[in-house]
Amino acid sequence: MRILLLLANALIIRAAVIENNEKGKKCEGIVIDEIYHEVEILKTDIDRPYLLTVDYSTNTVYFSYSVNKDDDIFKTAYVNMNTKEYAELKGINNGFAQTVDQKNHEIYIGGSSGLYKYNHKTKTGEHIGAKGSDIWNIYFKDILYYSTFPNQFLYTFVNGESNRFKDLEDTKVDLFVIDNEDTMFFTNATGLFGLQKGSQNATLYKESSEGIRGLTTDINGNVYTCTADGIFKVDKSSLTLEKVVDIDDAFGLAFDNENNIVYSDATKLVRLKPNKYKSCDLKN
Ligand SMILES: *[C@@H]1O[C@H](CO)[C@@H](O)[C@H](O)[C@H]1NC(C)=O
Ligand SMILES: *[C@@H]1O[C@H](CO)[C@@H](O)[C@H](O)[C@H]1NC(C)=O
Repeated sequence: MRILLLLANALIIRAAVIENNEKGKKCEGIVIDEIYHEVEILKTDIDRPYLLTVDYSTNTVYFSYSVNKDDDIFKTAYVNMNTKEYAELKGINNGFAQTVDQKNHEIYIGGSSGLYKYNHKTKTGEHIGAKGSDIWNIYFKDILYYSTFPNQFLYTFVNGESNRFKDLEDTKVDLFVIDNEDTMFFTNATGLFGLQKGSQNATLYKESSEGIRGLTTDINGNVYTCTADGIFKVDKSSLTLEKVVDIDDAFGLAFDNENNIVYSDATKLVRLKPNKYKSCDLKN
């Protein structure tokens, strides 16, 4: 079931090659806002890394990936972006969604049989609740929020207790995050919406959520999204999405602890780091 959603937009896997249009030569970096960015490959040969999140205290990116090409088996793994260490998390049934409580350096994971907290010492997930629920998505801001599959209901999880999230009780929720002004951004089949917490007045940012694969916040709590063709910033003043950079077949998006873009495509994890001493102008 899940895999259909992930596969729908991923039939064609192409190698990303950035051309310098004027001269038809290749530029090794990516230009964002007129600033050259190095393309740092963090992990290759991994199938559709999804739902990326970064623990700022260790600069580690957690994500899930598809274990097989065409079934519903996923695994949570991480890459420490400082040391490049890669590992898979143990003790979790079908780890799919992950989020971080940055204040307490806690990693939460949602899988096919509920919610888990990661034990850094034993390197395993420990079951904490929502037993028997298939977790679809998860986000931490002050408290833990999660949505379930296949009904796409949104819940809060406080002191071991799950409750439907009141502001969105009549709505399906797919991807969601909460920004620095307590606006919850979420997608459902109708589109991408922003909802001020405590109100029930959702504002439409994009009609149809088709192609939206990632929704995330940067270190300042600004909201970004990725689709099959790029990374976009959510602009709250104009209620629109503004393209930051073209990415071929982007699957997931997060930001590291220096606010660099970390994204995945169908086969790898990448970080984009600004370098003001380089450019794509091949004259030099
Ligand atoms: C998606 O959310 C909006 C805003 O709350 C709502 O109007 C719409 O009915 C929802 N769509 C689905 C499929 O639940
Ligand atoms: C809902 O929010 C939008 C955008 O913030 C605002 O323009 C509109 O007046 C609000 N509607 C109600 C009924 O509060």
